Amino acid sequence: MIIVHTIDALFEATKSLKGTIGFVPTMGALHEGHLTLIRQARSENDTVIVSIFVNPTQFLEGEDLDAYPRKKEADSKICELAGVDILFMPTIDMMYEADELAISAPSIRGFILEGTKRAGHFDGMLQVVMKLLNLIAYNKPSSFRAYFGKKDAQQLALIEQMVRNYFINVEIIPCDIVRDRDGLALSSRNIYLSMEERKKALSLSRSLKSATTMILKKELNVERIKKEMLLSLSEVEVEYVALVNRQFKSIEQVEIGNTIILVAGYVGTTRLIDNLWV
Ligand code: PAF
Repeated sequence: MIIVHTIDALFEATKSLKGTIGFVPTMGALHEGHLTLIRQARSENDTVIVSIFVNPTQFLEGEDLDAYPRKKEADSKICELAGVDILFMPTIDMMYEADELAISAPSIRGFILEGTKRAGHFDGMLQVVMKLLNLIAYNKPSSFRAYFGKKDAQQLALIEQMVRNYFINVEIIPCDIVRDRDGLALSSRNIYLSMEERKKALSLSRSLKSATTMILKKELNVERIKKEMLLSLSEVEVEYVALVNRQFKSIEQVEIGNTIILVAGYVGTTRLIDNLWV
């Protein structure tokens, strides 16, 4: 595995690559969820590139940018063992200049759910993903795939839209959510949870399970499903429970094969999200 810290070194490393590139952008603190993306990229491509960059522009004032877990050495080891070919770890100065041209999330899909709760987050996320995709594609690979988890469902939908709207030559590959054995969706932020909070956090996946049970019993009414989910979430400071279609438009009835059920909330001071695609 080659570790590159500069953009020039990245271009040098990708200059003479042949075949397909599979790219997994991350903010580090790698866990089994990231590893699943890396393994899928490994099995589908000639070259696997991972980036680790804690992107400041997607953190809002007062969020956990400084406290965000940074584990460069452990992450490098994980990447090496997973068969990554190139690990790209740029600095903030390399990625941004002072007066940057900005990208804005779309005015409807970007400003609901996570977009209202974290206004500005998606602008910064799209900005860095655009930069990373352009950097990896700089030497014009014959085929370029980028892997994103479905856990950040709205992020994924917005990245797909950006790729469409800006005609970026990359195939976006959505990857399934990875859960611990107890059902908790893996997240770098889970390490903030105490034992007690972790137990409470399980109610997020439990609420999604209760929705599935209702849907299996042919209850498709969105309001009734949300009401039932909220019963399981009494120990979470709920920010939203929502059912939308895959285009993130609101729905009144579940459309099987085209619905995402989303939940977000705080357990203690840790903000968690989870979702289920039905
Ligand atoms: O999902 C993440 O880890 C980040 O939002 C991403 C896509 C790496 C951009 O910083």
